[in-house]
Amino acid sequence: MAQGGENWWRHGIFYQIYPRSFQDSTGDGVGDLAGILRRLPYVKSLGVDAIWLSPIFPSPMADFGYDISDYTGIAPLFGTMEDFDALLAAAHDNGLKLILDLVPNHTSDQHPWFVESRASRDNPRRDWYVWRDPAADGGPPNNWLSEFGGSAWQFDETTGQYYYHAFLAQQPDLNWRNPDVRAAIYDVMRFWLEKGVDGFRVDVIWHLIKDAEFRDNPPNPHYVEGRPPHEKILTQYSTDQAEVHDVIAEMRRVIDSFGDRVLIGEVYLPLHRLMAYYGNDLSGAQMPFNFALLSTFWSARSIEQIIHDYEKALPKGAWPNWVLGNHDRPRVASRVGAEQARVAAMLLLTLRGTPTLYYGDEIGMHQLAIAPEDVRDPFEKNVPGIGVGRDGCRTPMQWDSSQFAGFSETRPWLPLPEDHVHENVVNLDADTRSILSLYKRLIALRKGCLPLVVGDYHPIAAQGDLLIYRRDAEGRGVIVVLNLGPEPIAVTTSAIRFGSEILISTFLDREGEKLEGVLDLRGNEGVIVMPPA
Ligand code: GLC
Repeated sequence: MAQGGENWWRHGIFYQIYPRSFQDSTGDGVGDLAGILRRLPYVKSLGVDAIWLSPIFPSPMADFGYDISDYTGIAPLFGTMEDFDALLAAAHDNGLKLILDLVPNHTSDQHPWFVESRASRDNPRRDWYVWRDPAADGGPPNNWLSEFGGSAWQFDETTGQYYYHAFLAQQPDLNWRNPDVRAAIYDVMRFWLEKGVDGFRVDVIWHLIKDAEFRDNPPNPHYVEGRPPHEKILTQYSTDQAEVHDVIAEMRRVIDSFGDRVLIGEVYLPLHRLMAYYGNDLSGAQMPFNFALLSTFWSARSIEQIIHDYEKALPKGAWPNWVLGNHDRPRVASRVGAEQARVAAMLLLTLRGTPTLYYGDEIGMHQLAIAPEDVRDPFEKNVPGIGVGRDGCRTPMQWDSSQFAGFSETRPWLPLPEDHVHENVVNLDADTRSILSLYKRLIALRKGCLPLVVGDYHPIAAQGDLLIYRRDAEGRGVIVVLNLGPEPIAVTTSAIRFGSEILISTFLDREGEKLEGVLDLRGNEGVIVMPPA
């Protein structure tokens, strides 16, 4: 199906690589760019079209690269600019697009901009960050909270003011109301786009603009005890301000000036707020990430509802997308269980819109329980014991059954699960019915099936654990039938006509089966069915 060309990102499948954990090539226990290059044939073999790399730039790694100290360099831990150029060239040679993580909301506190900004009140870069006087009692300027625990304001002795940090104190927020900040980040974008990168995933894009008056956030009446403390207040004034859409439209213009590149926005907001990130007349992000599947209750009716709501809310002409996992959320195999992980794969790869896969989900990697002494995630360190830790979804890729899973020669930066001796790429590739084989077959099927790539979405009425929909394009269609529960179901919908053919089952053992009226689904089984001509 469409490789390059216009709107490749509509037709393509994205694959997120967390560079620290994909492949170590230097023997330091941390993944790197040369490692990714070495594993490119694997990525290619999956059939995906684009790679998104989490941050690879110089960083003190307080938040593992989401604290950048140089936007146009490569962290020595990950390699050199030559390594990056080689990876980009190899990706393109293999027909793969490469997109980078842009982190414009905050820098590292070690970034030269911030070092200057904090030096004195009259430093030319003072206003590049968000500085405020203490409140009357000497405390923080307002009640805004850091997502990683505690106040979002850090007092700076040298100049007697507080600076704002939505995340760690080592991640001061840039002041996006300052035109010089905007220009500097747009230059960063141009730097990478000129090198040939195919776009950006923009970190916490809904955070960029804060209330001009820095009003207190209201309390969250729905706060649930045991949830992270920053949820005690709403983010009414600290995020999602109307002016952010002007900024995003500017970013989009930078993107568009380079031709067919893509701007993806990380946005965790309720549906109607999320839709605003497509921008007026679609002048915003081409794809504001749709994270609905990350938090939904895993049942046929809830999923049917979120698809319905999402499809209905999309602005005219806006292209949908779906995400099943990322480096911030528990692994899908643990959220829904190993059996349903196969159904989830079929769902992701048959919904309307661009799918984003998270490395390792294709081999069924699960959320690893991390012993206290192994915790690396600053979120878990600051807010311990309530399950917010993100290390468990960032463990090394399981390539083979050797001691360190083929990921490294030495002990990796995060532990490996014991089951990596069975659950690894080598074994699962050899097993023609493994989840890895399922992912590859689903991807190949999607790419060769116009209705799945560009077709309309039509729900088909179903009850209980059944989820059924049809995808249609140019008079052709396929029907997706998913059993979200463990019990077998005899499906007798009129939508499945006599003589329909099973194109694929999540068990990979029914291809070509002709249906005679009833479709007998096993527990946790999904199938894609083609009606007779
Ligand atoms: C985004 C990233 C997350 C990071 C945070 C702060 O949510 O995905 O990993 O910690 O932003 O940059």
